[in-house]
Amino acid sequence: MGGLWVDFGYLIGATLFIIGLRKLSSPATARDGNLWAAAGMGIAIILAMVEPISGFGNYPWIFGGLIIGGILGWLMAMKVQMTAMPQLVSLFNGFGGACAVLLAMVELNNGYENQTFTQGSILIGMLTLVIGGVAFTGSVLAFLKLDGRVNDKNVTLPGHTYINIAFGLITIAGLIYFTIYPDKFNGTALAISIVWSLVYGWSFVAPIGGADMPVVISLLNSFSGLSGAAAGLIYGNRMMLIGGILVGASGTILTILMCNAMNRSLWNVIIGGFGGGGTSSSGADGEVREISVNDAAILLYYADSVVFVPGYGLAVAQAQKTVKELDDLLEANGVEVRYAIHPVAGRMPGHMNVLLAEADVPYPKLLDLDDANSFLNQATVAVIIGANDVVNPAAETDPGSPIYGMPVLKVWNAQHVIVMKRSMAAGYAGIQNPLFFHPKNRMLFGDAKKRLQDLVTEVKGMG
Ligand code: TAP
Repeated sequence: MGGLWVDFGYLIGATLFIIGLRKLSSPATARDGNLWAAAGMGIAIILAMVEPISGFGNYPWIFGGLIIGGILGWLMAMKVQMTAMPQLVSLFNGFGGACAVLLAMVELNNGYENQTFTQGSILIGMLTLVIGGVAFTGSVLAFLKLDGRVNDKNVTLPGHTYINIAFGLITIAGLIYFTIYPDKFNGTALAISIVWSLVYGWSFVAPIGGADMPVVISLLNSFSGLSGAAAGLIYGNRMMLIGGILVGASGTILTILMCNAMNRSLWNVIIGGFGGGGTSSSGADGEVREISVNDAAILLYYADSVVFVPGYGLAVAQAQKTVKELDDLLEANGVEVRYAIHPVAGRMPGHMNVLLAEADVPYPKLLDLDDANSFLNQATVAVIIGANDVVNPAAETDPGSPIYGMPVLKVWNAQHVIVMKRSMAAGYAGIQNPLFFHPKNRMLFGDAKKRLQDLVTEVKGMG
């Protein structure tokens, strides 16, 4: 096939990637978006095979890899639980990084054996190796942490941040040295670089708190994209370059959005140790008033409008279907029901959207932060279900609070507030929540699913 046709095919593939990404930005079109992007990738794979690069032609290896990888990927995606999605994404990132390491190894090896290095080619080769290696072992450690198989404490050394800074500086020095003196690169340098990049990836993620893993996974995702883009440069493959840049850019944007939504800098996430501090915010004491299931049901049943605020506890309790059942009963009684979705509620981007979509909650009922805050101003009841940090007024009132400045859902503007959780325990940020002591608030203690089932029973009895 001629070069022009291949270029044209790549253009179509790249366009499909971009359409796919665009569609991923809304829950209503996200499934389609995946298919569009997968079609783009299918085209890219076929065209990469009909556009042989010199010395290329190991078709049994290529098809063997495609078949084994395709089957494994399919089986893993079919089997995965929704709650284990971040782990799967992390593993997939890691595979991308590992691919980049293998490609860089081969090309760097060829380069010094055949003495074909230029300053540009060695820089790109080493960048591919280092970024791919960090994405690989970093993602594996992120997977192990998220899956609860590795405890933060067991992999963190004293002064780990300084160790990582030293690692980073030595890596940059190595890159500069071999770019200036490409003829000094040999087999030993290659072996050391491979081990170095893998150790650096592990060390990079080690001190980062387990609950910060979604941000780190997004960052590593952008690293794996950048390593793919660098590999695209090595092979002069435009499609690989475009795909890598798209992954790198979208991963970076997502990382920044998550940090902004938590009002934390990326540096603060990377140096780790957030949460669990247990410092009390000012005003976080006073009388805690409880509400009975019966009183709560009456309040909801006769309300004009109700806003459910789901958080991490809803995911833990797997209460999404029960809240939808309660929603249906209330709507049948003329109550206007909405869901307030904070961008970092839960533990992964879009966590609440995914859970509520699973329970068939219609998308228009989901309000983002700004719309939810205006709706809350005239809502009769705000029901907080297993959320904590995302409704903490200290983010607005207490400059000493670790979450000060983080935009929150202003549930206290509703006429009544009900907080559903099991105890007075803190959330992810490890801080007390003055909302629990607010005069408008009453606590409905217990597991979110059990309590929602109790409410469903009560409301059914009223109909
Ligand atoms: P959190 O502040 O973590 O609070 C969750 C609350 O759920 C806990 O206080 C817990 O209280 C309650 N809970 C746990 N299991 C429950 C159950 N079975 N039934 C009822 N309640 C239960 O959650 P949030 O408000 O969703 O905030 C998310 C936090 O995670 C933010 O600090 C955010 O910055 C952080 N974070 C988010 C992301 C993303 S991308 N979403 C990424 C990294 C970090 P009890 O133990 O008393 O029940």
